[in-house]
Amino acid sequence: MIALFTVLAISYVLGSIPASLWVGQIFHKMDIRNFGSGNLGTTNAFRNLGWKSGVSVLFLDFMKGFIASYWVAMYAFEIGNGPIAPPGWEADTFLKITCGLFAVVGHMFPVFANFKGGKGAATACGMLYGIEPISIGISSVIFIVIVFTTRYVSLASILASFIYPISLLVMRFGFGYYVDGSIIIFAILIASGIIYKHKSNISRLLDGTESRISFSGNKEN
Ligand code: G3P
Repeated sequence: MIALFTVLAISYVLGSIPASLWVGQIFHKMDIRNFGSGNLGTTNAFRNLGWKSGVSVLFLDFMKGFIASYWVAMYAFEIGNGPIAPPGWEADTFLKITCGLFAVVGHMFPVFANFKGGKGAATACGMLYGIEPISIGISSVIFIVIVFTTRYVSLASILASFIYPISLLVMRFGFGYYVDGSIIIFAILIASGIIYKHKSNISRLLDGTESRISFSGNKEN
């Protein structure tokens, strides 16, 4: 039980690392909470810090989720069974999801940034790649297509999140592909959380004031 709490705490603290805030402060002497949308996420990092820092933040936010769902969950196994996991050992799916979820919650409500963090899309994407890559691959394709056709990152995140649990259900019930039931439940929770965190974007999308990304520079319109 102590081991479980330990890995969940590690996952939360890992997810709490505010990559966009720290990259901005360290390399640009900027607090991106005071610029653009003010969101501590990849999009606002691209918007205000340029593409190199944006890519770095995307990588770091993605890896927080991936490391939590893949490596931290494996570490939990090692705590209970010695320092080296047996070859081919796979962490229990439920544990992987739980660790990943704590990382996403850490990203959304980070202990290192007054509990006001990002919207969780990149970290959730990383965590889900550590668990079940096919359906998150489908969502990633949808995300990319929507970003390139509309230039709204928020709309792409919302629709990709919405499609994610649906694609799991289709895989399981439409194609008979084995998908653990706990993944589907957590997918619905994560998608709902991400969409909820985008409520200000949804309002701006509806009234036509949401900013689009530009592929020709940092400025948006
Ligand atoms: O998922 C997209 C989200 O990061 C949008 O962020 O800064 O436009 O509110 P932002």
